Amino acid sequence: MIKLWIDTGKEKGRIAPEIYGHFSEHLGRCIYEGIYVGEDSPIPNENGMRTDVVEALKEIKVPVLRWPGGCFADEYHWRDGIGPKEKRKKMVNTHWGGVVEDNSFGTHEYFELCRQLGCKTYVNGNVGSGTVQEMSEWMEYMTFDGVSPMAELRAGNGRKEPWKVDYFGVGNENWGCGGNMRPSYYGDLYRRYQTYVRNYGTQEPVSKICGGPNADDYTWTKVVLETVYEGMQPGAKPMLDGLSLHYYVFPDNSDKKGSALDFDEETWYRTLEKALYMDELITRHGAIMDKYDPEKKVGMIVDEWGCWYDVEPGTNPGFLYQQNTLRDALAAGVTLNIFNKHCDRVKMANIAQIVNVLQAVLLTEGPSMIKTPTYYVFHMYRHHQGALLLDSALTGVRKTGVGEWEVPEVTESVSKGADGVLTVTLNHLSATESRQVEISFAEDEKHFRVDEARILTGEMREHNTFSEPGCVEERDWNEYCEEENKIRVTLPPCSVVMLRLAPC
Ligand code: AHR
Repeated sequence: MIKLWIDTGKEKGRIAPEIYGHFSEHLGRCIYEGIYVGEDSPIPNENGMRTDVVEALKEIKVPVLRWPGGCFADEYHWRDGIGPKEKRKKMVNTHWGGVVEDNSFGTHEYFELCRQLGCKTYVNGNVGSGTVQEMSEWMEYMTFDGVSPMAELRAGNGRKEPWKVDYFGVGNENWGCGGNMRPSYYGDLYRRYQTYVRNYGTQEPVSKICGGPNADDYTWTKVVLETVYEGMQPGAKPMLDGLSLHYYVFPDNSDKKGSALDFDEETWYRTLEKALYMDELITRHGAIMDKYDPEKKVGMIVDEWGCWYDVEPGTNPGFLYQQNTLRDALAAGVTLNIFNKHCDRVKMANIAQIVNVLQAVLLTEGPSMIKTPTYYVFHMYRHHQGALLLDSALTGVRKTGVGEWEVPEVTESVSKGADGVLTVTLNHLSATESRQVEISFAEDEKHFRVDEARILTGEMREHNTFSEPGCVEERDWNEYCEEENKIRVTLPPCSVVMLRLAPC
């Protein structure tokens, strides 16, 4: 039997709520249709934002939302998206499908969306094709509370009060779509651009995010950090608060990434093995960061992650619209458990992307909206946000898989909330077998009872559709028994389980 051992006395750090963050880009039907339908739409909305989408997102407690890209960010000129909508510039979204971008969703609309969601803001600036002045003036426009040309422009556009920018990304994927730069060149540009990302007023300073590596490009991390830290006086504040990391799971690695819905058992394990690779990436990039920042003050910001498949047949290839199955739920579950376990270094993560693009939590079609299996994982895991990671370990876990693709049967993470309630999240990766797990505690004198038990499970390809939106849903679960100070659970195949354990 597998044993999960929890030491409630050993707190290993706070899980930043922002680990459960999201990403929204001007790509396909993410912003337009997915989030923003405009004030005059027959689809119920508040100031243009779809009410159904905002309500669903509030239920998963979205802590932070990154915008406007992605690759789009390094082509975005923020002045195109302010002022009267009828006068806003119409342009071609060259990266994503060559469609017309009418800029009706811009800076003001983004902050309105974050207000409705009650989340932090993460604005990504343009280094690839933008100037230092443009970036600097955007910060002034958004955050300056006084007399200045940009504050006046903002007020003229109907917003007197400044907004709060919590995070600012200095470029995106500057090794690729953001300018095809070499790491030392980007490192120098980062030093220069970030200088003008000013902090205005008395608000908490903005956290500056430096553009980090693609997947296992350790050279990028090393050279960028070397460049950014060069000449820094001991004890001085570094020029960055976070370094980004992007990692997507491509189940196939070929030109075709594979179907989101039509896959076999081998591909199930291949996908999950690739999702688990996130652990090695964080460990190895983290080791390079440790050299410059041994106290771990600079966060690793995994601001793009998720599964990437071929687009759904018949949809625009540039829109990256894909379905979402139990496989995606398990990929999300294992990844979020990895982030929790690395909460000393990972301070934010943003799944790509929030609605209708890649591994989305919500899909829309006209006035209809469905929740994907990935949505329910974020819902079950929401209790980890801001909680304390506890020391925990699994024993007796075997490997399971097909051919060369092997994964551990079960992964887990455990946290303790301010109310003393523990949240245990377990992923059972076997596509076919059930498995028992016995949970026990290092401190015998402390007892816990199951307060709530929830599960998401089904056949590996199961998913929700607009005609059958409730095929895969999180539900109450009672496949456990409590004995003395032990809890025994029986995990069905392909399952994500969340237990809330209250002290008694
Ligand atoms: O999320 C889709 C794209 O993937 C983003 O625009 C880019 O940053 C990454 O390559």
